[in-house]
Amino acid sequence: MTVDPLIELRDVNKYFGDLHVLQDIGLTVGRGEVVVVIGPSGSGKSTLCRAINRLETVQSGTILLDGQPLPHEGKALARLRADVGMVFQSFNLFAHKTVLQNVSLGQVKVRGRKKEDADRRSRDLLDRVGVADQADKYPAQLSGGQQQRVAIARALAMEPKAMLFDEPTSALDPEMINEVLEVMRQLAGEGMTMIVVTHEMGFARSAAHRVVFMADGRIVEDRPPGEFFGDPRSDRAKDFLSKILKH
Ligand SMILES: Nc1ncnc2c1ncn2[C@@H]1O[C@H](COP(=O)(O)OP(=O)(O)O)[C@@H](O)[C@H]1O
Ligand SMILES: [Mg+2]
Repeated sequence: MTVDPLIELRDVNKYFGDLHVLQDIGLTVGRGEVVVVIGPSGSGKSTLCRAINRLETVQSGTILLDGQPLPHEGKALARLRADVGMVFQSFNLFAHKTVLQNVSLGQVKVRGRKKEDADRRSRDLLDRVGVADQADKYPAQLSGGQQQRVAIARALAMEPKAMLFDEPTSALDPEMINEVLEVMRQLAGEGMTMIVVTHEMGFARSAAHRVVFMADGRIVEDRPPGEFFGDPRSDRAKDFLSKILKH
């Protein structure tokens, strides 16, 4: 699957002060590949995602998107953020804009689309994620699951090359988790390149091509889900899985 790399990290190191949060990270994600990242809290999963979107800078190493180094600033950086859609645990929608405006805004500002074209596309995407009837409401009027699906639609509206999900269901009530995972499963099925940080092991088993297990800023295992869950090699992974599968 890694014959056609879309995202590549080579020897990436990142420090917060003395804390070495990303240690010699090497990771290649092929076009159309779905990589689930798991690991204990504080292991660097969010920092890894944020580095790929250049929400965090790294001290050394190379990060390539589609063969190109990440741009450092200006319009190119805004385009990168559009090319790599990111969905966070907190939905991060603009509270004072309607759902439709939330999804259309970036299309107009970054992609330079006409408002009518953007709105048409937005309605299409809202329909795809199952919230077409919420278009004229404000985020606070929606459930968490609906808001998260709007956040996904907003990222997709930019026609990203890849999508990063950082614990997209962790803030949701249990009954809303599946409606979000279902949208993600559908995206994966359509061939979207995805990096997904999640504790949803069912999703990892069914949708991931590879599971990357991180601990203390390192990638400890990087294997197909069947192998990883069936036969974790490292003590860290065994320990982590025994805790997460028990609770
Ligand atoms: N902005 C920051 N400043 C200082 N330390 C940070 C910052 N962000 C994260 N960290 C630290 O970096 C480590 C990795 O954090 P993070 O990437 O959020 O881990 P994870 O997402 O796996 O829980 C943690 O020890 C965390 O406390
Ligand atoms: Mg995190």
